Amino acid sequence: GYVGTTGAGAVAGAGLGAGVVLAADAGNDPPAASAPPAPGRTIEPWGAHQAGVATAPTEVTELVALDLLPDVDRESLGRLMRLWTGDVEALTAGRGAPGDPAPWLSQPAADLTITVGAGPGACRPGLLGPGPTGFAAIPVMRRDRLQDRWSGGDLLVVVAGRDGTTVAHAVRRMVADARPFARLRWRQVGSWSPTDPAGRPQTGRNHFGQVDGSGNPRPGTPLFDSTVWVREGPWAGGSTLAVRRIRMDLDTWEELTRDEQERSVGRRLGDGAPLTGGMEIDDLDLAARAQGRLVVPRDAHSRRAHPSLNGGRRMFRKGVNYTREVETRDGVRVESGLVFLAYQADLLDQFVPVQRSLDEADRLNEWTTTVGSAAFAVLPGFEQGSWLGEQLLG
Ligand code: HEM
Repeated sequence: GYVGTTGAGAVAGAGLGAGVVLAADAGNDPPAASAPPAPGRTIEPWGAHQAGVATAPTEVTELVALDLLPDVDRESLGRLMRLWTGDVEALTAGRGAPGDPAPWLSQPAADLTITVGAGPGACRPGLLGPGPTGFAAIPVMRRDRLQDRWSGGDLLVVVAGRDGTTVAHAVRRMVADARPFARLRWRQVGSWSPTDPAGRPQTGRNHFGQVDGSGNPRPGTPLFDSTVWVREGPWAGGSTLAVRRIRMDLDTWEELTRDEQERSVGRRLGDGAPLTGGMEIDDLDLAARAQGRLVVPRDAHSRRAHPSLNGGRRMFRKGVNYTREVETRDGVRVESGLVFLAYQADLLDQFVPVQRSLDEADRLNEWTTTVGSAAFAVLPGFEQGSWLGEQLLG
């Protein structure tokens, strides 16, 4: 296992005493509620897989895509990967990166993971060589309204953690160390609520208010492993990642009745359970009818995306919610959306057909527009003493 909690985590937790006093003042909580909040974990980066893929969602995720400079070759890409490996090991442990001008911004128990991927432009002879089976750019869908601003990239760094300052610092170190090799192409940031108010893990909600992630394969199961990890060849232990920036029109969405909102996906807003009954993580009964009509409509999102209607194809979704301000003639407006992230072993065989099926007839299309798209091959994991991408570049 790659998950461990260091002793330093307890120190970080002790620093939160002031918040505990406030919480105890707020009501008649039983004594147990005044225990210091659990600190995050220090997640070790080593193993057969990069640690950030299967770990539970965190509060903050920042993604940066970079473009390789024209003169970068296999050897210099290897140098960058060795540098990044040192950064990943230090930053996730809560130490400053080598040469870090602000090591104080690194702290342990921050749930920090750093995941590195390569775009189609880096998966060619002279660089990483061919990517995993089925890895290529995502074909443009009929409804896509893609902007270069949010699309493509030769390299990807995904930094996830429990607080935005620690995450931003890690991103900054990674981008700074890449400077001789690559320049920043885009940056996207999102948030998630992975725990309930009592600190218990929960699935989390998107900006439509929907519980999002219930149908995912569970990490640690054989289904998860066969869905997500590349099995053979030099990319074994790696994965592929689809990044789709999807704008969500909250104004028109909020005009719907609750019933219309629930039928557009096929799950209840309150708890995420299927409209056909059961608990949140239960599967939908796609054949169920009431008063002669399908309970989960033909164009409901969960039906169109469901493995049983897509030849058994699955993916592991781990998107994050974004907002950003947009200047308009009448002042500032806030745009909301989802940085949709899906991991799968084979991008062309798993993600693309499901995306096509949604592009054709997903009721959610009425309130969503994809404005960015990028594909990355997630590098296999690395062991202590080795480096990211050694299987491909070493
Ligand atoms: C399920 C929302 C985009 C694939 C769901 C669910 C919600 C949801 C609420 C039901 C809960 C769950 O099983 O997680 C959204 C929203 C999107 C979006 C708001 C855009 C803003 C996409 C895209 C894909 C996708 C782009 C893939 C191309 C799936 C899959 C399921 C699912 C595979 C599980 C179906 C099942 O097994 O029941 N989505 N989704 N979604 N979504 Fe999406």
